[in-house]
Amino acid sequence: MGIERVGIVGGGQMGAGIAEVCIKAGVDVFVHEINDDLAAAARSRVEKSLGRAVEKGKLDETGRNEALSLLRTGSDLDAMADRDLVVEAVIEDEGIKKALFEDLDRIVESTSAILASNTSSIPITRIGQATSRPEAVVGMHFFNPAPVMPLVEIVRSPVSSDDTVERAASFAADRLGKTVVHAKDRAGFIVNMLLCPYIIDAIRMYESGFATKEDIDAGMVNGAGYPMGPLTLSDLIGNDTMLAVAESLFEEFREARYAPPPLLKRMVEAGLLGRKTGQGFYSY
Ligand code: CAA
Repeated sequence: MGIERVGIVGGGQMGAGIAEVCIKAGVDVFVHEINDDLAAAARSRVEKSLGRAVEKGKLDETGRNEALSLLRTGSDLDAMADRDLVVEAVIEDEGIKKALFEDLDRIVESTSAILASNTSSIPITRIGQATSRPEAVVGMHFFNPAPVMPLVEIVRSPVSSDDTVERAASFAADRLGKTVVHAKDRAGFIVNMLLCPYIIDAIRMYESGFATKEDIDAGMVNGAGYPMGPLTLSDLIGNDTMLAVAESLFEEFREARYAPPPLLKRMVEAGLLGRKTGQGFYSY
């Protein structure tokens, strides 16, 4: 069965970015948010991003209008009933994700529909077990900013079916034009397992007073050719997400290199860093 109707749960940075990628590829998209104001905000995120693309001459007016005509947003989860693929992109909270997958299991009608999670770190196996169809559950991990970063990690649980994995991978590669890599269901998959310790080390370096945040970032941009420094990147990802990823990695592997730095933990827990407040290392 082809994938023509996509649902995205969560219209934040990642959800809106994934929606943009899908509508630009000609796919019908419904984005769910928890209330109408957030649903409208999700739409305006996508509109702004497409507006920037038009200003830069990367997209013409017709292309923008065609893409936007494929986008609906709203707060009624029942609108997911006719979707061929649902991508969950809500906050990194296992309880919230599991409750959502239970709802999606009840709502999404087609037995060949794929239920995907954009989780950065929560095991797909555990998310899948919240449904009566774990074989249809897979990880589709996009990277931030989703319209720009080419990669999608496809993550299979021990019970994801070959058909689910193949169709999710082929949709990401052939329809969305993304580069696909495959990972098994271990915390961090491929990219975060390598990226997270690097960012954690940068936070520890800053925390210890060894160097300023500006110099740490400038060091990696100018000395190692990274597009942005690790602390700027942690701010872009969202420090609350970074903490959740570090905690998942540490829980799974119990290795000190994944342990969340106290500064990150305390500041996120105190609401001083994180996407909710929009504050990052460079807010201070
Ligand atoms: N949405 C759409 N397009 C965007 C965008 C956004 N949010 N941000 C930037 N762009 C586009 C710009 O329009 C620009 O396009 P053109 O070149 O066609 O004009 C292009 O990206 C470059 O942007 P800028 O010139 O503004 O800035 P830049 O050259 O500094 O690039 C960046 C910005 C693409 C974010 C770059 O700094 C970068 O690649 N940073 C690293 C990002 C990264 O590592 N992401 C992965 C994070 S890990 C993750 O997401 C997984 C997880 O689970 C935590």
